[in-house]
Amino acid sequence: MSTELQATVDALVQKGKGILAADESGPTIAKRFKAIGVESTEENRRAWRSLILAAPGLGQYISGVILYEETLTQRSGEGEALAQLAARQGIVPGIKVDAGKIPLALAPGDEITQGLDGLAQRLDGYKQHGARFAKWRAVYNVSDVLPSRAAIEANAEALARYAAICQAQDVVPIVEPEVLIDGDHTLARCAEVTQAVLLEVFHALYRHRVALEHMLLKPSMVVPGKAHAQQAAPDEVAAETLRVLRRTVPAAVPGINFLSGGQSPAEATANLDAMNRMGAQPWHLSFSYGRALQDTAMQAWQGQPANERRAQDALQKRARLNAAASMGKYSASMESTD
Ligand code: 13P
Repeated sequence: MSTELQATVDALVQKGKGILAADESGPTIAKRFKAIGVESTEENRRAWRSLILAAPGLGQYISGVILYEETLTQRSGEGEALAQLAARQGIVPGIKVDAGKIPLALAPGDEITQGLDGLAQRLDGYKQHGARFAKWRAVYNVSDVLPSRAAIEANAEALARYAAICQAQDVVPIVEPEVLIDGDHTLARCAEVTQAVLLEVFHALYRHRVALEHMLLKPSMVVPGKAHAQQAAPDEVAAETLRVLRRTVPAAVPGINFLSGGQSPAEATANLDAMNRMGAQPWHLSFSYGRALQDTAMQAWQGQPANERRAQDALQKRARLNAAASMGKYSASMESTD
């Protein structure tokens, strides 16, 4: 057993804490900035990510942050490396290592994530900049016929190869299979796809000898498609998600940190809370949200230095409410207080 991997898992999996995903790729951060009328320049990205990492006391609710490669070499206004700034807050720096998704050849509608070539060498460099864990995201489009068997197997294989390469370098892998919320599919269809995806992912992890004790799972919740007429209440999302997870995720996995995947900030919090009210589970159930943590803060910021404190307060609030949800102690009334 690697003591380095265990120490990182222990630092990430803590009661009342979750992970902040701040690893938007170039095109994705440009889209988020456009929504608030901010141009995606290197300086604006640096300003935004410095601001969120410097939020006072963020480490009280956040145990780890997933950074984008560019951020690892950027510095705060005071000249401190941003990964170091996170570490000083008690937040473990991590790094997104996949190179994004492309269409899966000869499989219309399916996608595959790339980035395995040279990964071991890249990890070496990331570690030198302070990264102790990594993330790789696979995406699955849902319809009556998608994802195909080929897509489920190819993405599972890539996730497992990535996780094995990380563990060989003493970097904790976050394994992220995201069943997309886009579309008008039912809750039952999402459950069926998520179960098939997770079964295949854990088979592949076993084949590649990945130590389940030294990884984290970052799944999507089981929800109806965004365009489906009937949306689901938190109790239903929680029950269906837990049913699928209990069937597919071995108890050896220490933590499951959900992505928000296009849920509103309040929905993502309420759904996590509902799961943590359903009794003891084999794994620590928490969050690894991007939009559901950052959106309200970005709205408050608007690219203006004068709004930095308000933006940090907004981030703090979502972090605090999600920390409460990770213990089943959130209530909707907390939304209206500061
Ligand atoms: P969202 O919570 O915005 O889905 O982002 C999480 C993430 O890391 C996606 O890869």
